[in-house]
Amino acid sequence: MTDVAERLEELRESGLHRRLRLVGGPQGPHVELDGRPVLLLCSNNYLGLADHPRVRSAAAEAALRWGAGAGASRLISGNMEVHRALEERLAAFKGYESALLFGSGYLANTGTIAALAGRGEVVFSDELNHASIVDGCRLSRAEAFVYRHGDLEHLAWGLREAGDRAALIVTDGVFSMDGDVAPLAGLAELAGRHGCRLMVDEAHATGALGPGGRGSVAAAELGAEVDLVVGTLGKALGSYGAYVCASRELTEYLLNAARSFVFSTAPPPPSVAASLAALELLESHPHRVERLTENAAALRAALAAEGLPAGRSRTQIVPVAVGDAARTMEVCELALERGVFAQGIRPPTVPEGTSRLRLSVMSTHRAGELERAAKLIAGAAREAGATRAVPLAA
Ligand SMILES: Cc1ncc(COP(=O)(O)O)c(C=O)c1O
Repeated sequence: MTDVAERLEELRESGLHRRLRLVGGPQGPHVELDGRPVLLLCSNNYLGLADHPRVRSAAAEAALRWGAGAGASRLISGNMEVHRALEERLAAFKGYESALLFGSGYLANTGTIAALAGRGEVVFSDELNHASIVDGCRLSRAEAFVYRHGDLEHLAWGLREAGDRAALIVTDGVFSMDGDVAPLAGLAELAGRHGCRLMVDEAHATGALGPGGRGSVAAAELGAEVDLVVGTLGKALGSYGAYVCASRELTEYLLNAARSFVFSTAPPPPSVAASLAALELLESHPHRVERLTENAAALRAALAAEGLPAGRSRTQIVPVAVGDAARTMEVCELALERGVFAQGIRPPTVPEGTSRLRLSVMSTHRAGELERAAKLIAGAAREAGATRAVPLAA
């Protein structure tokens, strides 16, 4: 039996112990954290829709009309009009034949990968893919070929070795901890050449990249070459849940075979209705996406001016490398004391020796406050002796 007290002590000693912080009020650019006002620089509410009045009232109205919960899985009695309405809207937005809702991005990735690959087959996964993709590969019982980050030559070698056992290539569209974009055109070309499916997780790309925020696949001018697009509703779309967009045949297969869909309660009507309202707002007010892009560029520039380049980030996810886990948390706490909340991210979320603050920008931040935050974070890094950190790859 694991000695829990000992394990907790080990985590404390290695600087990897985590604790919960308490946010008061809705997720806006400013929140109360553990009772103190701070600038929030680590929320995935990228477009400010989680706290938008229209999104909030859509959730409230849905609760009154359909209730707080769906009461069962979709295949039993939990399939409601509001689920179908959001699926149809998401499929149209992403340009796919069909969409299928899941309870969360974690459930969408684990269930989909495990349904599409099995024992005796090979799944190809970028080394910086999100943990839910890693766990999906494990659950599938297929062999996982983890290719070097964004390295198409390494992937091509793996595909050649696998031959007709190659089942699926899976990648984040925007990488969640580095903010860089996957080489999607190259991945699509390799998938086509080797007769292998391609799945792109647009958790951080939807609402941020591509025309009208349609995501990284649309930004790369791809469509049918990408067999499945996964996205979450808990980030730019302001609520909770996730979806897979694909052909009608594939979503029909997933609703039969993805265990995290079959054996889990349908998403609650208020959050589904909230995402529907958020999607309507995104489509009718695409300037939010432009504002997010501008804010992200302003933050990256302000950090670079302070000697803190954001590695290979091209998006609203802006890492500040520190390296050591304990020192990362020191910088985080110092910044927090001065009113800026940018969470420190440590292994196993990021590779050993690459701990960092993961800053994320919202369209609702003001440029001036992002510049001030960059100065303040640089000051905190200097004070913690973190200015000679190993930089993240550019
Ligand atoms: C790339 C990526 N995929 C999937 C997820 C999981 O999504 P969810 O939070 O909806 O479970 C996340 C983050 O949480 C993510 O960053």
